[in-house]
Amino acid sequence: MQQEGEQPQPDADAAPGPEPTGAPPGDAAAAATVAEAAAPAAPAIVVEASDASIARAAAMLRTGEVVAFPTETVYGLGADALNPAAVARVFEIKGRPLDHPVIVHLASADDLAEWAVGIPDAARRLAEAFWPGPLTLILRRAPQVPDAVTGGQDTVGLRVPSHPVARALLEAFRGVEGDRRWTGIAAPSANKFGRISPTAAEHVRADLGGAVELILDGGAAEVGIESTIVDLSGAHPVLLRPGAIGVAEIERVLGEAPRAPEARAPRAPGRHPVHYAPRAKLRLLKRVAMLEALASHKGQRVGVLALEVTVPRLAAGLQRVVPAVPARYAHELYAHLRALDAQNVSQILVELPPQTPSWAAINDRLARAARGGEEGLEDAA
Ligand code: TXA
Ligand code: MG
Repeated sequence: MQQEGEQPQPDADAAPGPEPTGAPPGDAAAAATVAEAAAPAAPAIVVEASDASIARAAAMLRTGEVVAFPTETVYGLGADALNPAAVARVFEIKGRPLDHPVIVHLASADDLAEWAVGIPDAARRLAEAFWPGPLTLILRRAPQVPDAVTGGQDTVGLRVPSHPVARALLEAFRGVEGDRRWTGIAAPSANKFGRISPTAAEHVRADLGGAVELILDGGAAEVGIESTIVDLSGAHPVLLRPGAIGVAEIERVLGEAPRAPEARAPRAPGRHPVHYAPRAKLRLLKRVAMLEALASHKGQRVGVLALEVTVPRLAAGLQRVVPAVPARYAHELYAHLRALDAQNVSQILVELPPQTPSWAAINDRLARAARGGEEGLEDAA
């Protein structure tokens, strides 16, 4: 997937080789990697979500282990949010810098007060309107929230997901035993730092492989892109990351549109311009320019992501046609980028979607992915 002459990617070495060839004989580690990658069936760590596997996952989380699980947005890599060592393991698996905060997932908005202080009325109203669902609120942290979760900031990101498996996992995890207390699961997206978020259990396995003890398979993530993030820790609501819940919907609830972040807003890796990058270079072009670019790259292996139009003479596997409906486009986007990336293309040409508010979150992710290909991820901290 990594093309020769492309910029180095910080996690490229750690990523499992997609097409391992010719491991030197006697090199046990390399041979094991080859055997693993070449195995036709997914290894046992991917388990279909069921009452039993969810109970097992909850028990593992309680003892400080790390588990990947589905949410309605993307798959998360979860750990007990009150256990700094477990959260540290999540950072280690992802290759994520330690000063980046992670979102804490809660079973219910009733648990907000365990995690945040000075909760504004705006938070209650947004929670009431959109939870469970794809919205993360940034609030002032409660004193017991570990620095490992907040990246040392005085705020914490909180979300009640709606995916039935995530909800069941949070319910099973939640509880008190003696002086032990479990109330929140810290979970960033279950991908290597700087790469595309996973929207299927298989994506998690491909990215993180054996580093995760258990991956709960709950099918394809319905929303397909990460949650909307609204910072309510200041005087005015600020949109830190656009998502499926749009600005207009938030404004309807708050009576005030969330503002754009200032340059020195709290650190949020998802907001870094080179996040969400596929390995192949991605170019965002209007349809005519896309077709011209394709013609000028005759003979090269180029992938195309187009809006409801097929490109004559381009192999079906190299072109992906996405519905021109934002919710359906978002649902399919990352899976298409992964599939094209896996086909050894030198470039992925993406037809520019409409530049309207209902496409804002998609345009945000595509713009980041396009910049990632050109600039590399060296400075993605
Ligand atoms: O949809 C989602 O939000 C998924 C699923 C798994 O819930 N999670 C996700 O997590 O996308 P992650 O870590 O990949 O992105 C979370 C974003 C990051 O940009 C992080 O910096 C930001 O949330 N964030 C978390 N806590 C924050 C805080 N206290 N202040 C500012 N940003 C925060
Ligand atoms: Mg992420």
